[in-house]
Amino acid sequence: MELAPRSCPVPPLLLLLGLSTGAVINWPTEESKEVWGYVTVRKDAHMFWWLYYATSPYKNFSELPLVMWLQGGPGASSTGFGNFEEIGPLDHDLQPRRTTWLKSASLLFVDNPVGTGFSYVNKSDAYARDLATVASDMMVLLKAFFDCCKDFQTIPFYIFSESYGGKMAAGIALELYKAIQQGTIRCNFAGVALGDSWISPIDSVLSWGPYLYSMSLLDDQGLAEVSKVAEEVLDALSKKLYQEATKLWGKAEMVIEQNTDGVNFYNILTKNSPVSTVASSLEFTQKHLALLFQRHVRHLQQDALSQLMNGPIRKKLRIIPEDCTWGGQAASVFLNMEGDFMKPAISIVDSLLEAGVNVTVYNGQLDLIVDTMGQETWMRKLKWEELPKFNQLKWKPLHSDPTSSETSAFVKSHKNLAFYWILRAGHMVPSDQGDTALKMMRLVTQQE
Ligand SMILES: *[C@@H]1O[C@H](CO)[C@@H](O)[C@H](O)[C@H]1NC(C)=O
Ligand SMILES: *[C@@H]1O[C@H](CO)[C@@H](O)[C@H](O)[C@H]1NC(C)=O
Ligand SMILES: *[C@@H]1O[C@H](CO)[C@@H](O)[C@H](O)[C@H]1NC(C)=O
Repeated sequence: MELAPRSCPVPPLLLLLGLSTGAVINWPTEESKEVWGYVTVRKDAHMFWWLYYATSPYKNFSELPLVMWLQGGPGASSTGFGNFEEIGPLDHDLQPRRTTWLKSASLLFVDNPVGTGFSYVNKSDAYARDLATVASDMMVLLKAFFDCCKDFQTIPFYIFSESYGGKMAAGIALELYKAIQQGTIRCNFAGVALGDSWISPIDSVLSWGPYLYSMSLLDDQGLAEVSKVAEEVLDALSKKLYQEATKLWGKAEMVIEQNTDGVNFYNILTKNSPVSTVASSLEFTQKHLALLFQRHVRHLQQDALSQLMNGPIRKKLRIIPEDCTWGGQAASVFLNMEGDFMKPAISIVDSLLEAGVNVTVYNGQLDLIVDTMGQETWMRKLKWEELPKFNQLKWKPLHSDPTSSETSAFVKSHKNLAFYWILRAGHMVPSDQGDTALKMMRLVTQQE
């Protein structure tokens, strides 16, 4: 196993960020640092990770949790999108992000599955093709990480995720729980948070019509058309025709687009940007996959972010192989997982709950692709014996700004399950509602 961690001094912007709070800094800020490296998780499969030590002006990183962030797709990059567009210390213009999670946690970004972001494979048969491989690859990475960064072995470790990353997070959390039980990984695993997560694809697809209809984005004819194609997806899934279901899923999205004048699947109050010409790419022999890739991965690596990652960032990181392009293998990552997209992971969440792992589900109110109605539907299918009690509870309002009466979210929790309804956010909760996302992370990691 090769592990090549590097560290570098904190850039001046981070120092500015620490000072901008006006607080007294109790120790030399040079201690805030970044470390990154590659881990060979299988033959010909290399995974890239990037760790930022927490930079709170009040606390040493050792007193704050460690959060691993997993992006969706599959094929979207955590070190790129999650880092520079959502929760990292800097935005895509390399300006400080006011709502970065780094104030309250150390952040570990991992480009997974292999082939995503700066991760790469050397042979095309090395791509992951199912959730089990995604999870076992991550176990190799986490073992190497905790063996190497020993300071983090005792720090509470949380996995936060988005979209398809939520499905991977569930699978990874369960394997991590087992590895800790077996003593193969030393880590203080404290919980998993599933954000707008692709846990039960069919429950998302079946709720698209009713959700859009209730929001005045479908008329009666449109609702009938969307419901018809959703039933076709259900039919394919009940016959376990997963690739066919993926194809029909793409068709359902097209029917929605036609009937809504191009609603944005990631935030229904905005418009889709026009689909580019990726469909003509040689990698895609089937048009529906090209469209799905465009919608689920490509928009997370648009030109500006690509230029940043393949320009100043790769230069700073120094260890990225010359012929490895950030995002260059994303389409192959996506295509290789085609048979896995539509498979549900509800039973994995049940296993986590039963094992006593803390599970948080959070969802943006304006998300269509993984709408909140669909999340509630799969949660009602859980076999967890405490579920009836969870369901009986009333939610509580949450205010990110204590001086304002504006409701940021509703939350409900019982034993080791919590649900956050995030208001005015779409699919990318931290991008849309940075303050609420930060507050939620602090609540989940027991800092408030
Ligand atoms: C912060 O924590 C690390 C790890 O426990 C320790 O080595 C370091 O001395 C601490 N720094 C301060 C200023 O307390
Ligand atoms: C594996 O791929 C990387 C990135 O494309 C490349 O730099 C490296 O030389 C390859 N290694 C082998 C053994 O082919
Ligand atoms: C799990 O959540 C419960 C309830 O919120 C909390 O009391 C407990 O400390 C949490 N466990 C961990 C390891 O964070």
